[in-house]
Amino acid sequence: MRFSDSFLDEIRQRLPISQVVGEHVIWDKRKSQPQRGDMWACCPFHGEKSPSFHADDRRGIYHCFGCGVSGDHFRFLTDKAGMSFPEAVEKLAGMAGVPMPARDEREEKRQEARRSLYDVMELATQYFEAALGHNIGARARGYLHERGVSAAAQTRFRIGYAPDSSNGLKEHLAVNGVSAQEMVDTGLVVVREESPLPYDRFRNRVMFPITDFRGKVIAFGGRAMSADVPAKYLNSPETELFKKRLNLYNGQTAREAARGGKQVIVVEGYLDVIAAVMAGFEGTVAPMGTALTEEHLQLLWRMSEAPVLCFDGDSAGQRAAARATEIVLPHLQAGRTVKIATLPEGQDPDDLIKAQGRGAFADVIDRSRSLSDVIWSIETGGIVPETPEARAALEARLRARAAAIGDQSVKRHYMQAFDEKLQAFFAPVRQQRWENRDNQRGGRGVGQYGRKPNPQLGSKGSPRVVVSDTLRNSRLLKPGRGIDATPREAAILMTLVNHPALADSRLESLASVEFSSPTSRSLLGTLLDLVTRDHEISAEALSSALGARGFGEAIEKMRDLLARQGVWQIGAEIADPDAEIGLKHALALHSKSVELNKALKAAELALGEDPSEETFERLRDIQNQITTVDGTEALIEGFGSLSGRATRSF
Ligand code: UTP
Ligand code: MN
Repeated sequence: MRFSDSFLDEIRQRLPISQVVGEHVIWDKRKSQPQRGDMWACCPFHGEKSPSFHADDRRGIYHCFGCGVSGDHFRFLTDKAGMSFPEAVEKLAGMAGVPMPARDEREEKRQEARRSLYDVMELATQYFEAALGHNIGARARGYLHERGVSAAAQTRFRIGYAPDSSNGLKEHLAVNGVSAQEMVDTGLVVVREESPLPYDRFRNRVMFPITDFRGKVIAFGGRAMSADVPAKYLNSPETELFKKRLNLYNGQTAREAARGGKQVIVVEGYLDVIAAVMAGFEGTVAPMGTALTEEHLQLLWRMSEAPVLCFDGDSAGQRAAARATEIVLPHLQAGRTVKIATLPEGQDPDDLIKAQGRGAFADVIDRSRSLSDVIWSIETGGIVPETPEARAALEARLRARAAAIGDQSVKRHYMQAFDEKLQAFFAPVRQQRWENRDNQRGGRGVGQYGRKPNPQLGSKGSPRVVVSDTLRNSRLLKPGRGIDATPREAAILMTLVNHPALADSRLESLASVEFSSPTSRSLLGTLLDLVTRDHEISAEALSSALGARGFGEAIEKMRDLLARQGVWQIGAEIADPDAEIGLKHALALHSKSVELNKALKAAELALGEDPSEETFERLRDIQNQITTVDGTEALIEGFGSLSGRATRSF
């Protein structure tokens, strides 16, 4: 039991500490002054010959100037006499003549009651588990088998079956001595005015026990096995044990996994958690029947600095992501953020893992984006505002978002990050400026920055290698496996293959597009040729004509590459106007990157001739811009669904 502070204080005040200590030491007569409550002895905690242990009755504490121990009455008995705290309290209360307080019976009853509610939940869990293994559980077992929930997963998650009966569980609990009140208090049995008898809440459902962070069952989620039942999932109501805002499905396992270095991942459903855990993502959790709450976030942050929140790629999922950003922002701190992962449209983690394996889910998690990136892309909608007014409005929206952050330092960094992005977003390619500077320098011999050789480069350093490595690693320019086209080139080409009308309406500008890969170049050339010959050509006719000209395999590979990259909406089923928006973005980014690459080549050459600080700086600047364009592309991903259109840009 807990003792109140006032009770403990009363003991301290009534009882001189020297009286407590005096039972264990012999006071030094010469040094002690009993009338002042100022007592000295050889320390009982360490061996010594001259007294440096002091008991101070006025302050009620002891201290040894030799070994440094100190404490009050209670501490002395627990540390010196080896008593437990309650034992020390009891003894000291007796010495002081203070009556022990009456036990707090209400609190103890509550604890007792809670303890038995846990037992009731455990009884129910075992009842459901047994039913699943029994004849009556045959259909439920069939359902789980169909859903790909293995026997191992069933055991691990203690999945069960609630028989199709209104009193099966009720009777079972009654036989085991559970009171009617406890049945209602656990939410297992429902009392309704209109029905004469209480009845089982869960009937004919597959049962998922929900545990607290100590692994005790506190609630259930029950899934219907057919679509015609009103609620697909029925969850336990809020009870003394179950507060859904404070619990996460698989929370206990996830917390342990997180300690072992596993990524903490938040998904939507029970079956998503189960599929993820069975695929090796043990740090996966889900809220139950609610959106993520602030309390959930605090729980998650106790497990990980940056849990990954997964959302469906469809518009509902993206709206949920946007809502989540609003919940998270006010609570950000250094070392407390979230990342956001977007699933392929229409697939939850369970579907994805079943269809494409753990690698596909790992990819989704790897591609999760930082919160600031996500907010940026929500606010820009992937569109560069044209007018100064629209730009100012964008800036204001971003500032308002950052202003929602409570932590001053994090807020400042968000503002700064947004500012930098705005500048990069609106900036023209800066090649021109350097050319001017080059000319000036040519005229004056040495530039205004001098010509310090760059120590990073060494006298015969090979900056070209440095630069080209970065470039090669840029996602922007990385060819897909098996083909030499970049994802962006593939996206442009596949949009045109599926939407020939878009090609027809911009033949001129497409003819001047510069692709880096030979396959892309010849595919584009042939495609434009075919469209020029037949302006009304259908997507099917175009595909087969390209196939006949030997591009079948290249097209297949590009399709695969895009699927792997999560670019799903290049297909023929996407409406032309939506495909066109995506195409415009891809073309704009492509031409910017072509420009940048030309600038990069020029800068590399210049560096070869003039390995100075300034030329090196110029290279760095271009590299940064390439990274920015690369980033912009990632930001624009998902734009279609955010703007309510069923397309994802690239
Ligand atoms: P979903 O509707 O996305 O279902 O609900 P799911 O998880 O993919 O389930 P399956 O694959 O169809 O079986 C996601 C989560 O929302 C809660 C549940 O926690 C569920 O796991 N939910 C859903 C409810 O609480 N009640 C419902 O009627 C539906
Ligand atoms: Mn599902």
